[in-house]
Amino acid sequence: MVCSQPWMEMVLSPPDNRVTCCCDYHGDGATLLDASQDLRHIAELWNAPEARLVRRLQSEARPDAHGCAGCPRFQDSLRVSELSVFDEYALDAITESQRHNLALAKQDYAEKREYARARPVKYKLFFGWGCNITCRTCNQVPFRNQMKTKLAPKAYEAMRDQLADAVVVECLGGEPFALPTGLEFMRDFAADQDMAHVRLMITTNATLLHKHIGWLMDKERITFNVSIDSVGEGYESIRVGGSWQVVEANLRTIQGLVRGERPNWRLNVNAVMTLTGIRHLPAYARFMAETGISSRFEPLKIIRGIEETVYQEDVLEHPYLLDTLPDWQTRMAEAIDILTQAGMQQDANTLTRYFTQLRGANVPAASGTEPRVLASVAGPDVLRMVIGQVGGGVVLDGSAFNAATINDGAVIGINFFGTLPADGRVLLRLSWEKARLSRRHLACHAVLVPQPDFFLSDWREGGDDLTLVKDVEATVIGDPMAPRRLLLSLMAAKVGYVALLPDRIEVMSRAA
Ligand SMILES: C[S@@+](CC[C@H](N)C(=O)[O-])C[C@H]1O[C@@H](n2cnc3c(N)ncnc32)[C@H](O)[C@@H]1O
Repeated sequence: MVCSQPWMEMVLSPPDNRVTCCCDYHGDGATLLDASQDLRHIAELWNAPEARLVRRLQSEARPDAHGCAGCPRFQDSLRVSELSVFDEYALDAITESQRHNLALAKQDYAEKREYARARPVKYKLFFGWGCNITCRTCNQVPFRNQMKTKLAPKAYEAMRDQLADAVVVECLGGEPFALPTGLEFMRDFAADQDMAHVRLMITTNATLLHKHIGWLMDKERITFNVSIDSVGEGYESIRVGGSWQVVEANLRTIQGLVRGERPNWRLNVNAVMTLTGIRHLPAYARFMAETGISSRFEPLKIIRGIEETVYQEDVLEHPYLLDTLPDWQTRMAEAIDILTQAGMQQDANTLTRYFTQLRGANVPAASGTEPRVLASVAGPDVLRMVIGQVGGGVVLDGSAFNAATINDGAVIGINFFGTLPADGRVLLRLSWEKARLSRRHLACHAVLVPQPDFFLSDWREGGDDLTLVKDVEATVIGDPMAPRRLLLSLMAAKVGYVALLPDRIEVMSRAA
């Protein structure tokens, strides 16, 4: 399949000083700013060598050779719909010049032109990682204090003529309403009546919307993509620092405007599929049914820094989590029923797909067997289990290291020579004395990276007033009697903080 992104979309990312055709692209991008930190011209960027390379590799059907590798858009099921992606943009009431550019882009794509004649149909402007809340699941949090460059003031003025025949300009972050350059750009765009035909799309957490409705009303076409993940308590447990009361009021306000004074506004919410989300799914569905707001459910993506949240929330990847929610099936079925009754069939269908997937997964029963200790190390001996360091500049200082980057860490290794427990499962119990933990001193993240001999089969956090405990259970892949090595990474929790190795590591088994 040839993906349409390289002929359609331009992603401008000032914090990385990078321009690509897709926010998931992980190959080289062109630089957004020139050597004197001025914005490069969009026409130059759109046909820069990096952009042309993606078009060429896509045309030659060699996506795996570069930064598109692993992208779900290459699944066969998407093959037929790719050309029609362009037609979706024509559903907006677009002008003659927008229509002409869209048709040309579609033709460039159909002909697989390396040098695009059309300009981008969509721009995505990413203003930075900064945000006013700290979502537990957010794949940006680990990068927050890294920002190479930002857009200069008056960026909108510099770009506006080049944006004029696009159909949509999306603004996101971080939180675009909390980032000064994002806010300035959006305000200038909204106030510019000569650009009324270009839709502003805002991907936002909606926590600050009530402060900006006044100037937003100047813009006739806006799409609000609001990420909420859950409602009520569920919302506040995932979106730490956000208030559901505020967000709910803002969603109702926007939906009221969509149905009244602003018929060309659109409002969609999105949620990542989590254990917490499933716990609150009936309430979520009731809110959507009552307000008529449509929602999208997305799988969680894992990156360095949020693995422990993923181990505790990603039901799709780790169905073992569902054993703590015995009525999960009832909750999902109820939510699907509420959405169906409300005529929100598409939203119900997405949830049904996840429901079917989870029902087919192997959800183990909660294990009541107390594990027994096979081996244990404590204090300075913990260091003797470390077989290597990862990241640059890690200083192992007795029982801790300073995390200069999010990729800093230590790896422990345990060898088994036909000595694995009979059930092929090993439980590593890591303990930290809470007296050692502080705002600057954080327990390492316990990460089981994909490896040949074991997969992660359970991960729990617990303990008591004195001790923090992380239980990591690994299950052997293949013959348990063959020699096996289990690797566990003890990784930086946050950049610039001290990462504490555990005070004790116990190797345990639940097998009889
Ligand atoms: C990081 S947010 C930034 C924009 C804005 N502040 C917001 O909350 O929507 C952009 C989108 O990324 C999604 N996202 C963040 N972390 C994710 C993860 N680990 N997996 C999947 N989607 C994630 C969010 O749900 C949101 O829809």
